[in-house]
Amino acid sequence: LITVRELYKNREAYLDKEITVGGWVRSIRDSKSFGFLVLHDGTFFETLQVVYHDTMENFAQIGKLNVGAAVIVKGTLVATPQAKQPFEIQAAEVTVEGASAPDYPLQKKRHTLEYLRTMTHLRPRTNTFQAVFRVRSLTAYAIHKFFQEQGFVYVHTPLITGSDCEGAGEMFQVTTMDLNNIPKTEDGKVDYSKDFFCKPTNLTVSGQLNGETYAQAFRNIYTFGPTFRAENSNTTRHAAEFWMIEPEMAFADLDDNMEMAEAMLKYVIRYVLENAPEEMNFFNSFVDKGLLDRLNHVLNSEFGHVTYTEAVKILEENNDKFDYKVSWGCDLQTEHERYLTEQVFKRPVFVTDYPKEIKAFYMKANEDGKTVAAMDCLVPGIGEIIGGSQREDDYDKLAARMDELGLDKEQYGFYLDLRKYGSTHHSGFGLGFERCVMYLTGMGNIRDVIPFPRTVKNCDL
Ligand code: 4AD
Ligand code: MG
Repeated sequence: LITVRELYKNREAYLDKEITVGGWVRSIRDSKSFGFLVLHDGTFFETLQVVYHDTMENFAQIGKLNVGAAVIVKGTLVATPQAKQPFEIQAAEVTVEGASAPDYPLQKKRHTLEYLRTMTHLRPRTNTFQAVFRVRSLTAYAIHKFFQEQGFVYVHTPLITGSDCEGAGEMFQVTTMDLNNIPKTEDGKVDYSKDFFCKPTNLTVSGQLNGETYAQAFRNIYTFGPTFRAENSNTTRHAAEFWMIEPEMAFADLDDNMEMAEAMLKYVIRYVLENAPEEMNFFNSFVDKGLLDRLNHVLNSEFGHVTYTEAVKILEENNDKFDYKVSWGCDLQTEHERYLTEQVFKRPVFVTDYPKEIKAFYMKANEDGKTVAAMDCLVPGIGEIIGGSQREDDYDKLAARMDELGLDKEQYGFYLDLRKYGSTHHSGFGLGFERCVMYLTGMGNIRDVIPFPRTVKNCDL
């Protein structure tokens, strides 16, 4: 079968030749002696029109097809210079591969995203989700390409772990114990010796700690895998299962880290603009009218930089605009992040040097004793898309911080070892993959950029 993508890319080679294509019927119109099928074959954003005639023995069968039917068409590709589409197929044969029932839920009219969310198995057949999931695929490829071209080693960090990297306690437990009959020790505690790993385990919230061990061996590494958070946040930006990209670089400070993050985002933007022009134009026309201008502007400007302390000053002056009022020490909410990036900087911005109390234990303490060498990258429309930091590389300081926070140093022995055997200054960050796809496509809800989303109270399919 020839793909529709190939026909569009190399049309001259196929015009007036006999070809065979396979696809699904998007719409059908018929009259007495001929009819039109519009096919989508999944390989290209555009469709292909097929003209069929009553000279075909199954003419009546074709006319009765419903939207969604799968067909194979043999015929001649002819140019149609006056029509919307540059060519069509004059069919010689249409073979019905699989008919579609008349209750097929995706009819020609536009459906709401909410409605399509109720059918995650069928929505990839629509234009919107064709565009989203092709761009998602290309984005993943572009990220790998970006890091591989610079010699980063891709490390597969485990999904089941005994640690809580972010220390937020938002973990899904992993157990083989019978929850209706949990084995207990004599003093009434859960008897983990009866569990698969003989200790409490959970799905990972981040691959960073494992990633750091490889950075201290390979220098530059990245992870790219699923992460899980049992955050009870029912928002358009939080999923219980999402993918994260976590580069980690030995001999890199916070500035190097931000430089890498900015270069990566720009690379990915450029990649999807160049490699999915049809899809990106679609988003710009139907999803987010300013998208292409905004992304092109990002490519031609530098990201903003502001410290947390400076950002809080700006936000405090605008506290009347916020539901949640800002003061030094508070965590920034999405409304504040968006205000900074959309109203103040009007482009992506790095916020640095957050108070240590609102950040994870592993971040490097700053001289002031109050803040850490953290950076979050905020983008318009979303807020935080990246979180990163320079890591505490001093054994004593890290151990003291772990004590302060009541972390079990024995459990994190491997992590402390890195500070004992050839410690380097090092940095890394985590890019939320779904938020990156939202940013690139203008899609407003994380549920619409994940093939099978898992969010609070929702784990369908
Ligand atoms: O800021 P976070 O929690 O940072 C870390 O996990 C670090 N260990 C990263 C590192 O330094 N290696 O998460 C990183 C990013 C966020 O900026 C956000 O884009 C995304 O992960 N993220 C989520 N995306 C979707 N749903 C959720 N529930 C998310 N939580 C975080
Ligand atoms: Mg964060």
